[in-house]
Amino acid sequence: MTNLRIAGPTPLYSSSYKALQKEMITHRGSAYEKLHASVVKKLRPFFGTESDIYLLTSSGTGGMEALIVNFHNPTDLILSFSCGGFGDRWASIAEAYDADVVRTRDRMGTTVDLDNARQVMEANPSAASVLIQYCETSGTVLNDIKEFSRLARTMLPNALILVDAISVLGAAPMKMDEWGIDGVVTGSQKAWSAPSGLAMIAVSARAKLKIENARMSRFYFDLRLIDRYAKRNQTPTTPAVGSLFGLEAALNTMEREGLKNVFQRHLQLRDQFRAGVEKMGLKLLCPADVASPTITALVVPEGIDAKAWSQLLREKYDTIISGGKKELEGKVIRVAHMGNVTSEDIDLTLKALEASLKELKE
Ligand SMILES: Cc1ncc(COP(=O)(O)O)c(C=O)c1O
Repeated sequence: MTNLRIAGPTPLYSSSYKALQKEMITHRGSAYEKLHASVVKKLRPFFGTESDIYLLTSSGTGGMEALIVNFHNPTDLILSFSCGGFGDRWASIAEAYDADVVRTRDRMGTTVDLDNARQVMEANPSAASVLIQYCETSGTVLNDIKEFSRLARTMLPNALILVDAISVLGAAPMKMDEWGIDGVVTGSQKAWSAPSGLAMIAVSARAKLKIENARMSRFYFDLRLIDRYAKRNQTPTTPAVGSLFGLEAALNTMEREGLKNVFQRHLQLRDQFRAGVEKMGLKLLCPADVASPTITALVVPEGIDAKAWSQLLREKYDTIISGGKKELEGKVIRVAHMGNVTSEDIDLTLKALEASLKELKE
């Protein structure tokens, strides 16, 4: 089987794969309502919330958009704390809907600088919300969301705290209620190892109060309608039923493994991969204390063409990895270890990296 080491779609759990063979059902019947309710219930401990969770038919970016358009008015001040490509994207989404966005941008491979964040928050007391990634997949770092939220709650008591956890929810702890977070988004094709096609979002009671009167344009992601349908475990438009079959099965598998064990496994996979890379004499992009449990970037050695390396890995070693984005293009390669991944998969990846690099150097 292909060693698919990109940040989604990730290899499905076999349970999820089997679930895709189920006979199709109507989305206006009790079987669908049962499925919808079951998925929401099983997601709850991963989000760490008793608030509403909505299942959107879209990729993760749709969920990011939903968390902007439902809580804001055009010209609202939004603070974007970015340390890479996906943070930049979220700011652009807010700008597309005419928000007044103040952008901060830390270097890719580093986390959001909290001292700088404090200053930006202090200078912008009227901010309606703050945006941040839990894992910035392009820089392969994990932001300290607990600390960031504590800071934002103190500095900007009225602002909503919105978190893109697309590439790490399901692989690392999230305590949305305890940490005071107002909106969280994830995507089915990431650490859930389910088929793509679903963005799952959670919305705090505080954020819900904003929905009714928010004046930003919205239609497909209008939570007023989505909420009405969610109350009876349905969606206003056709849901991705097949992806939901797969996600429910994946959640059952993760439940059996146990949340803590799932999180622990991800840390072990990360550490195994990082140790292997260092043993090969290669350089990691970021230090261990900020390294994401779901994806790792390594620096492409001098004289090696990143594209040629990727191509060789794909064509000869059946191993698919991701390249660097934006300013890291050609400088790093990224290897994901999220969802249905074993220690053997990591071994295989390390062997492929070593052999292909040797070949390129010859
Ligand atoms: C942190 C983060 N945000 C947003 C996205 C975009 O998700 P999608 O491609 O599902 O729209 C990704 C995808 O890799 C991501 O890693």
